[in-house]
Amino acid sequence: ARRRKIVAGNWKMNKTVPEALALVRELRGPLSSVGDVVEVVLAPPFVALQPLHVALEGAPFQLAGQNCHWEASGAFTGEVSAPMLAELGCAYVIVGHSERRQLFGETDETVNKKARAVRDAKMTPIICVGETLVERESDRTLEVVERQVRGALAGFEAKEVAGFVLAYEPVWAIGTGRNASSAQAQEVHAAIRGLVGRLYDGETAGRVRIQYGGSVKPDNAAELLGQPDVDGALVGGASLKAGDFAAIVKAAT
Ligand code: G3H
Repeated sequence: ARRRKIVAGNWKMNKTVPEALALVRELRGPLSSVGDVVEVVLAPPFVALQPLHVALEGAPFQLAGQNCHWEASGAFTGEVSAPMLAELGCAYVIVGHSERRQLFGETDETVNKKARAVRDAKMTPIICVGETLVERESDRTLEVVERQVRGALAGFEAKEVAGFVLAYEPVWAIGTGRNASSAQAQEVHAAIRGLVGRLYDGETAGRVRIQYGGSVKPDNAAELLGQPDVDGALVGGASLKAGDFAAIVKAAT
């Protein structure tokens, strides 16, 4: 099965609501006709979701949350639940981003619970995994990534996982301007797909989409996205500029 490419812009803690609306206005024209070939996802800060949900009516963009809690509601001050995000039109939620793991104490177990909550709310998780520089330099990349994937997918069935999006984001490549080479990315993507095949079956492995993230820019996107097991990109910094993000999306077509 041919996997439809998926390019997501993770805005992180950037863009006020007026800035978010302006960015989307700039993206609409250049990306109006890519929808059949590549799925375009925008992950703004929570407070911009509702205004963008209204503004994106009819646009070929999907919305994503950047995080969620694993419970549907309750006494969790400051948290946002998956059903709340679904109600605002989110189709996806990013879970386990390395910034969440490193700065906010997320573990493979909480990532798994969040992915379950996202799925229960009828959305799709974008599950992030990736090794640190120390782990790569001590030859533990595949071991670390496999542990993260196994942890995140624990308890999920093949038919669920087939629809998931995994994002391989080497921590040393995030926001550093130092992207993984296409060969490094392909090696890990192939290993992740192989693991999904062992945990489930060949069909599930063939359908699950794996994005690469980490310093994706207009000038390296085509080569990364040209790798057989790279099904899209999770873009941070370059997703904040309409011209750069549009160029990356077009590199996926
Ligand atoms: O979620 C996106 C990644 O953390 C990549 O960020 O493109 O700024 O390196 P970056």
